[in-house]
Amino acid sequence: MPEHVPIVPWRLVNTLPADDCAGTTMPLCFPWLHRLGRVSKPVPSKLGDDECETVQVDQAKRDATTIRYRHAADLANKVAREFELSDDDVRRITRGFVEQMNEGLHHHGKAIEQLPSFITHLPDGNERGTYLAVDMGGTNIRVCAVTFHGHGAYSMDQAKAAIPPTLMTTKNHRELFDWMASIVRAFVEKNHTNWKSASLDLGFTFSHAVEQKSINSGTLIRWSKGFDVDGVVGQDVCALLQQAFDALDLPIRVTALTNDTVGTLLAQAYTAPSRRRTVLGAVFGTGTNGAYIEKVSRITKGQVSNPDPEATMIINTEWGNFDQGLDFLSLTKYDRAIDTASVNPGFEMFEKQISGMYLGELLRLALLSLFQSQGPNDFNSIPVPKSSSLYVPWSLDTSLLSHLEGDNSPKLTASAARVRDWLGVAKIECKIVAAIKTIARAIVRRSARLSAVALGAVLIQTGCLEHEGSREAGVCIGVDGSLIELYPGFVADIRCALRCIEQVGAAGEARVDICIAKDGSGVGAALAALIASKALKR
Ligand code: BGC
Repeated sequence: MPEHVPIVPWRLVNTLPADDCAGTTMPLCFPWLHRLGRVSKPVPSKLGDDECETVQVDQAKRDATTIRYRHAADLANKVAREFELSDDDVRRITRGFVEQMNEGLHHHGKAIEQLPSFITHLPDGNERGTYLAVDMGGTNIRVCAVTFHGHGAYSMDQAKAAIPPTLMTTKNHRELFDWMASIVRAFVEKNHTNWKSASLDLGFTFSHAVEQKSINSGTLIRWSKGFDVDGVVGQDVCALLQQAFDALDLPIRVTALTNDTVGTLLAQAYTAPSRRRTVLGAVFGTGTNGAYIEKVSRITKGQVSNPDPEATMIINTEWGNFDQGLDFLSLTKYDRAIDTASVNPGFEMFEKQISGMYLGELLRLALLSLFQSQGPNDFNSIPVPKSSSLYVPWSLDTSLLSHLEGDNSPKLTASAARVRDWLGVAKIECKIVAAIKTIARAIVRRSARLSAVALGAVLIQTGCLEHEGSREAGVCIGVDGSLIELYPGFVADIRCALRCIEQVGAAGEARVDICIAKDGSGVGAALAALIASKALKR
């Protein structure tokens, strides 16, 4: 899982809207009830209807009142319910998703942008040659030299560097592009002894919403995943990278621009040409998005045309921005807090409920609300120090959720140590760790079910499950990203939700392969460079 650094300026620090469980917004250091003597020791008592104990409140403070003592499991279940998505919800949201996909095909500037990639066909596995790729992801940049050997085989040299957080929000966009060019230069110097005499074609994976004008140009519509670099929106990002290469005198030509999902789709089709037909490339990592093959005749907004009714084009959906108007999604108070404090409030609401960048922070906000809640309970009776990471935005890495999910030991010992260290407390009871696991599970389950909405909608839009022929009988979705690769049970949750979508059902779901397209975006960008170079030579 990528490490998340506090790149997003945080305005709503340590406060959340109140509800009956969380109480009002509290100061950073909650006046613990026990320590202030406002509550006598929790008295074991008969369990009430909802299995909460009852304790006596100090008479001097509250006149003969009784308040309920709330157990960790009850509180966790209550929070978990806020993240639930019923089967009906999944169906309803899928219908909305298909609607918005079509709106994006007909009009510019819709929530789901449906951006043409100018790539009209998938590789067949017989491509050959060596191409460079730069993959600028949400956290890292990867540089690859990929050699395609045909028969779906390839070999690759690659190098990876973490993008310095300061460059993600720099005021001077040249710094970001010059830095990328310097990483590429270091890579070619090391890996290509004759690089100065050769002219190298490169595919650029740029994983933000870009309106492409051709296969090798495209202007940035908006940043996502915490990036907010001045002076790039509205600019051709390919040209910016080419300028940075030229400034370093690198003999590299940026021949193709791709989104990481387009790359994933291309890579999956190249490496598994004989398998089930590849219909979709999707990424579930720091961000989320999908690219699929659409009929050109359906893209009526005027960017592309082709008299051939069977002509196709890969479309980058930019589905992270689905339901910008919030007609289908419901938000918890934690979602709202994340959105308000993000660099792009009101945008990418779907992504903010799904992708790895936000899941850890959602859990931290849910826990913060419990630790700051009013009324005596298992959470706010833990003496968390003021210096605890609980109070530090973005301090909870999504990998902790994955760790909790994978921990099936009876006492959750391994997870307990991580939770204890993160909270900065001397010890932690198993029931607290189990409660945190319940909430983490609910957050990720919602993410997986919403992911299924997107996948299901594309299956419906393409009608790909309607074919009954032999090879057409099943389809393949190529996926990439740490969330789908590493989170235990994520794919199983997606599959379960897919089954409840009427047009997919159990039979349809069984015909869908979900395949990890490892290194998809890098290999895919090199494939895009290959496709573009061939087109230029024609
Ligand atoms: C970007 C997409 C990208 C996705 C996955 C989103 O934030 O807008 O372009 O494909 O993340 O990396």
